[in-house]
Amino acid sequence: MAAIRVASTSFTIRASTSPSSSFSSSYYNFSASVFTKFGFGLSYPTTPLSSWRGKRMAHSITRAALGLTEPKKIDPPKIAFSAKEIDLVEWKGDILAVGVTEKDMERDENSAFKNVILQKLDLHLGGLLSEASSEEDFTGKAGQSTVLRLPSVGSKRVGLIGLGTPSARTAYRSLGESVAAAAKSSRASNVAITLASSEGIAAELKPSTASAIATGAILGTFDDNRFKSESKKPALQSIDIIGLGIGPEIEKKLKYAEDVCSGIILGKELVNAPANVLTPGVLAEEATRIASDHSDVFTVKILDVEQCKELKMGSYLAVGAASSNPPHFIHLCYKPPGGTVRTKLALVGKGLTFDCGGYNIKTGPGSMIELMKFDMGGSAAVLGAAKSLGKIKPDGVEVHFIVAACENMISGTGMRPGDILTASNGKTIEVNNTDAEGRLTLADALIYACNQGADKIVDLATLSGACIVALGPSIAGVFTPNDDLAEEMSIASENSGEKLWRLPLEETYWESMKSGVADMVNTGGRQGGSITAALFLKQFVDENVQWMHIDMAGPVWNDKKKSATGFGVSTLVEWVVKNSS
Ligand code: BES
Ligand code: MN
Ligand code: ZN
Repeated sequence: MAAIRVASTSFTIRASTSPSSSFSSSYYNFSASVFTKFGFGLSYPTTPLSSWRGKRMAHSITRAALGLTEPKKIDPPKIAFSAKEIDLVEWKGDILAVGVTEKDMERDENSAFKNVILQKLDLHLGGLLSEASSEEDFTGKAGQSTVLRLPSVGSKRVGLIGLGTPSARTAYRSLGESVAAAAKSSRASNVAITLASSEGIAAELKPSTASAIATGAILGTFDDNRFKSESKKPALQSIDIIGLGIGPEIEKKLKYAEDVCSGIILGKELVNAPANVLTPGVLAEEATRIASDHSDVFTVKILDVEQCKELKMGSYLAVGAASSNPPHFIHLCYKPPGGTVRTKLALVGKGLTFDCGGYNIKTGPGSMIELMKFDMGGSAAVLGAAKSLGKIKPDGVEVHFIVAACENMISGTGMRPGDILTASNGKTIEVNNTDAEGRLTLADALIYACNQGADKIVDLATLSGACIVALGPSIAGVFTPNDDLAEEMSIASENSGEKLWRLPLEETYWESMKSGVADMVNTGGRQGGSITAALFLKQFVDENVQWMHIDMAGPVWNDKKKSATGFGVSTLVEWVVKNSS
């Protein structure tokens, strides 16, 4: 193993001195070093850029000097939601947005709206609504919208937003997104959202409809501008949700939506941050920040190279051995405030802050080397979920968040093709391809998760290009020998709207993973590449532990938006919450 030396970074905190949520800009003392917050969470020692090199700082590390880039500190969107039951025509503010289905847009023989709410609004606006919607050919299809300027009315603008024929929750999320877009373009700060046929929604579904709208509005308002030299603060400050009920049930759902969104936003920021800024050490600092922001429920342990060596994590350490940004093994632990634990869960995320492939370097246009900062998307999902769960504080579950963070680079100290590695359970691996590195890091992380006594382990990883070939850019592949776990996660993904598809753990394909000299190789052939990767991981999981692997190589990134998706956070939070109580 190559010698990598770092200052010891192992510590456990369960401090009572905790700053508020990481939404607010906070300074806090942490051991010997002072961290300043930049961006939405990324933190760095305050030591001036010119003096950090050569100095050994107490716990770190990791200021990214390369390229002199520092993320700007921008607060995430903070929108105040209120559920209201008031007359629409009485509402005063910048935009009154009405979600309408195609059916809501039906007219009677006098071309008046049949829908009572639209009828009333149209009357109030002197027929402008029916006139404009006919002229603009607005029929209520999903994706359509029309916004009218009304200088002399209580609401300065009235918008109709098409829902199509809403069956899925995604329609309501899109409504929130459309409203956010409208607010952005008109710099609106106070907005109301309602549905033309909210009375048609079953009472028990109204709170979740409201929370889907809120989710869309928050995420639609968020732009990651930390690395742009100029950016505008979002104007949107408040959203009244009208006609979907009032009271504790809806309030609770709205808070839940906000909590999940804060984790999704962290997930997006972590993935968007480039590898010269987000090193393994910085990722570890992020985990530490989550723990200190919610020190009532979290403890954190960061293992340095020496400590990982003591645990014999030869497979993981080999992957990080070429980089001058040393590996950091992250272990966050959530314990419920009530104390009683009925189920122990572990969430393991692949945390390659960059993957150039190693000696099997990624070459050619299809290799996506320029996007490989997203190879820590699994860890972003796991840490994003941790942030949300720190706010939601579910009962009855203990959750371990585990990331073997490192960088797959090339240098004289790096692993070579043909090297034989020994994982922490003693199994040996012949590296026939240094670009199949994620599974090598996950091997030791999964063994570690089993040693925590987890009943159920879910790992998430941007593991194989083959999974994108199989399922395309927006569906993640799921592998598990356990049907109950598959069912649990399928319910969670229906609630979150994140798409999963189960693929087989075909044991006969293990044939291609046999080595002449070691217990296994790390790469099978081209065929069934996601399956052989999953079979490899399975070698490192105790048989009596329920385990699932999620390959999120496709959905981690949105190619059109050229931005991270935050994929995984919301499904994981749903799943953990379902496992509580
Ligand atoms: N991080 C990649 C997987 C990946 C590729 C994710 C493209 C998203 C887009 C992973 O480490 C990798 O390189 N996998 C190899 C495995 C192969 C060498 C068996 C791959 O998919 O090509
Ligand atoms: Mn790779
Ligand atoms: Zn990778």
